Amino acid sequence: MPDIESKNEPKKVLLGLTGGVAAYKAAELVRRLGDHGIDVQVVMTKAACGFITPATLQALSGHPVYTDMWDGRIANGMPHIELSRDKQAIVVAPATADFLAKAALGLADDLLSTLCLARDCPLIVAPAMNRQMWEHPATQRNVAQLKRDGVIVLGPDSGDQACGETGMGRMLEADELAEAISAFLEPKTLSGKRVLMTAGPTFEPIDAVRGITNRSSGKMGYALARAAIAAGAEVTLVSGPVSLAAPVGASMERVQTAAEMFDAVKKHTAKADIFIGVAAVADFRVSAPRKHKIKKNGDKGLTLDFVPNPDILAWVASRPKPPFCVGFAAESRNLDAYADEKRRRKKVKLLIANLAQSAIGADDNEVSMLDDAGTHRLPRAAKTVVARQIIEHIAALCGAKARKSR
Ligand code: CTP
Repeated sequence: MPDIESKNEPKKVLLGLTGGVAAYKAAELVRRLGDHGIDVQVVMTKAACGFITPATLQALSGHPVYTDMWDGRIANGMPHIELSRDKQAIVVAPATADFLAKAALGLADDLLSTLCLARDCPLIVAPAMNRQMWEHPATQRNVAQLKRDGVIVLGPDSGDQACGETGMGRMLEADELAEAISAFLEPKTLSGKRVLMTAGPTFEPIDAVRGITNRSSGKMGYALARAAIAAGAEVTLVSGPVSLAAPVGASMERVQTAAEMFDAVKKHTAKADIFIGVAAVADFRVSAPRKHKIKKNGDKGLTLDFVPNPDILAWVASRPKPPFCVGFAAESRNLDAYADEKRRRKKVKLLIANLAQSAIGADDNEVSMLDDAGTHRLPRAAKTVVARQIIEHIAALCGAKARKSR
């Protein structure tokens, strides 16, 4: 059985640090970008070196850090050109008000600003400054000009600031930035596709305060939604009760029960190109949930009657013109045999199988993908990585046209 490796080229970015206190978050950003498989070359301004040392960034990125236009380590003596030539993007984080002003005007008086002017790849900036500097009309004008020039502006966020004030201007956290940068660099293989997904558990009430649910965390479904959005898809996510942040850019439908999940899916199926059922839907619900709390009645036990829930995935797959359907199977044993039987029974093009005991609630996962061509195993990896590989496979199977990778 073939192992599927990611077909993505290794991604490389140039990370520029300018002189703001948020420079300390850039150290973490280098690590988080590494988690997404992105290689980072760091360039720092003189002011950035006043906040954090090049040695720290060198140790974290595994590459020498450049700070000077006249650095002799680049053979042709042109670091302002050479350092960005094999990169998919230049990211400036933190980007100070001063840097934004220079970039908006096209000034090039140090290594980083010259690299930005001489680049042939996208520029992403993560502003970080005091709230009044951010709100100043000059800064707002510069940001508007940068956006008109095609620069991607990530943040800023609002909240407590190092200066003791509160407001807009905080740099986004390292994990948010890494996620957004990584998504930006993904090939847009699902561009123009509408993806409908279910994720998380369902909650089936017994009475006013009790119910039956399962241990699904929703992490795999949410990671898939993010990966589909990063691949350019328009995503509708029908989610059972989970404690996860909504994927940025997803249209959310929040539900509790399998019946509500079914209704939400029915509403969106006709427009979907791809349906991915990741939810751990309860197979049964209590036939007549009580309106009020059931009281203990001495030593007497309690018997509940259950009725089957609709099979949402099987319903979608049996439409006259179904979307491309993908199912999930969490089994506790006989994984391959049960998964194969489930794929045939539910008539889905692709079934993702995993062992429940090693997947539920975990941050990583090991799955097999079953389709008409056979079984493909994905090695154990973070759910975010597995999700991207599954989305790549779906894009290839449903014939989505790959748009040029950035
Ligand atoms: N599924 C669904 N609606 C249901 C039950 C399952 O849409 N009522 C979907 C799940 O989202 C998943 C796939 O069907 O994509 C398989 O779910 P699973 O619970 O493993 O399968 P079951 O049909 O419940 O089969 P079994 O109980 O035999 O394991």
